[in-house]
Amino acid sequence: MNPDLETIVNLAKKRGFVFQSSEIYGGLRSAYDYGPLGVELLRNVKEEWWRTMVRQRDDIVGIDSAVIQSPQVWVASGHVAGFSDPLVECQVCHNRFRPDKLDDPHECPECGSKDSFTEPREFQLMFRTNMGPVESEENTVYLRPETAQGIFINFENVQRTARKRLPFGIAQIGKSFRNEITPEKFIFRTREFEQMEMEYFCRPDESDRWFDYWVEERKRWYIELGLREENLQFREHDADELSHYAARTYDIDYRFPWGWDELEGIANRTDFDLKAHAEYSGEDLSYFDPETEERFIPHVVEPAAGANRATLAFLLDAYHEEEVRGEKRTVLRLDTRLSPIKVAVLPLSKKDVLTEVVDEIADLLRPLWAIEVDVTQSIGRRYRRQDEIGTPYAVTVDFDTLDDNEVTVRDRDTMDQDRIPISKLIEYLTERLPS
Ligand code: GAP
Repeated sequence: MNPDLETIVNLAKKRGFVFQSSEIYGGLRSAYDYGPLGVELLRNVKEEWWRTMVRQRDDIVGIDSAVIQSPQVWVASGHVAGFSDPLVECQVCHNRFRPDKLDDPHECPECGSKDSFTEPREFQLMFRTNMGPVESEENTVYLRPETAQGIFINFENVQRTARKRLPFGIAQIGKSFRNEITPEKFIFRTREFEQMEMEYFCRPDESDRWFDYWVEERKRWYIELGLREENLQFREHDADELSHYAARTYDIDYRFPWGWDELEGIANRTDFDLKAHAEYSGEDLSYFDPETEERFIPHVVEPAAGANRATLAFLLDAYHEEEVRGEKRTVLRLDTRLSPIKVAVLPLSKKDVLTEVVDEIADLLRPLWAIEVDVTQSIGRRYRRQDEIGTPYAVTVDFDTLDDNEVTVRDRDTMDQDRIPISKLIEYLTERLPS
């Protein structure tokens, strides 16, 4: 059974994964801060994406572009003209709503006024600010609403310096900002979020093949990292659902507690973006194919994922409650690559003789994995805490350790315990944990 959202929100807060932002000031709606465990989990999600998409391939390179770019970028990309939602305003309380999200189109959900709405008006979703000290139209810049455009505007720079031939990709992970009208559902839809995007440039006649290829690759990534297939749904968009830049789009949806919703979109963006940037910048963004001696604008297949949404899905999917000897056990069965802490080191009691050995073991393991030393509370409670935060292995030091130099290693999922000589501990864990 999948948990409800409240269960995960509570666990996230209680254990230090995710906190409401600005909590001491009453909280800022739709903004979240990642705590000590959350930041590790989120980093591991991004690290796994980067490893599979960039490090393990020789056809993809990475970049890290600026959040604030020339405002012309957003004119060329179509965002200035078209990245907006229609909104109606209540003339009594002045709150604004998306008409398609209203339960009753005649009643304001905020103040209850009847038929107080204006006609819908377009509302720009990009955050606007000023570059430099003068607030003026000419100094208006935007916070990027997607990482993709930073890639397109660097296409020529990267292709030339990385000496890449088609097909090749450019990947980027970074923050994006959208002034969403209805931020909702914890970290699923927020106004500040992180994207993991890759633009794969190819010959126009090969874009369909690469589209199918990337759909399969991306499905595999989620499944290999532990999402259950029954909680995933794959769906190609109908022609009338496509965004202005896409010839084809495929969604990877997850069964969130409120229903199926998007984790990632894979789009065939054709030559839309490079062509637009070539036109607006006046630069030649075509590619010369030395084999066929043709010059053309490459087409682009884009897998675009959200790091925060993926993190939420991994948390939900890993969450299990079970009964062990008449007691409820909560366990996060996270893939070991994602677990925030890989090994917990626990003395059976707080006695100094044990904590000395614990410190030695911690020093031994710390260079290799994220570890946590926990000396508080009973051993049973500490195991329960480690299960709840998804720590795959717990190493316990007891009084026998002082005589036999052995420790007990407990497996999170099976709860089986092995007695291992300290000298063999690294070897034992290396076989079971990612390096
Ligand atoms: N470059 C294409 C693009 O940005 P998108 O479908 O708008 O496409 C890609 O965004 C992914 O970014 C989404 O599938 C989602 O995972 C994530 N995302 C988009 N808006 C988000 C938001 N407000 N909060 C959290 N994640 C978001």
